[in-house]
Amino acid sequence: MDNWEIIQKTEQFIGAKFRTEGSGHDWFHVDRVRKMSFRLGMQEGCDLFITEMAALLHDLDDWKLKDHLSLQLSGTEEWLATLGVDQDVSDRLLQVIEDVSFKGAGIETPARSKEAAVVQDADRLDAIGAIGIARTFAYGGHKNRLIYDPEIEPVLHQDFHEYKNSTAPTVNHFYEKLLLLKNRMNTKSAQLIAEERHRFMEVFLKQFFEEWSAAQ
Ligand code: NI
Repeated sequence: MDNWEIIQKTEQFIGAKFRTEGSGHDWFHVDRVRKMSFRLGMQEGCDLFITEMAALLHDLDDWKLKDHLSLQLSGTEEWLATLGVDQDVSDRLLQVIEDVSFKGAGIETPARSKEAAVVQDADRLDAIGAIGIARTFAYGGHKNRLIYDPEIEPVLHQDFHEYKNSTAPTVNHFYEKLLLLKNRMNTKSAQLIAEERHRFMEVFLKQFFEEWSAAQ
């Protein structure tokens, strides 16, 4: 199977699996990450096949989604084996995907390759700005979280399990993750995009708290 065919098949597989995903990690998220990864990957001189494939597969084994997509840990590995992808290419892809996930404010997740750097940037860009705001509330609703509770302070998690098991209101997530992402971009081009999206979130939060206090 040639690379073009591998990408086509993976696109169909992920498209079908994530079509009805309601927590903000739907197919359109994956597709945006794929397009942004491709754009950043061109600028950074990445291996575009690895970049695009990693972007398409980046949420398949994600710890956030495991429960409701009923996935096994090795879903990605299995899929690559089904396609007959060479072992060394498969290993490279799995390493890129492993580097992408955000695990908490105090936990460093260094990208070990250029490809991981751009897919991580693309995924984080989709978590901020207008789309990031929409996705954050969709995810909060999916987890039955309150929109906001003034009595619950944000926590900068130093521990992945604490972060993973947090039940805090959705607005806290802006302080625990989203507003930190601007300074965690790996590439210059992603950083420029992040700055604009960051400003938009600050405007949103300012308005949110103004409306909140006027209603009290
Ligand atoms: Ni993602």
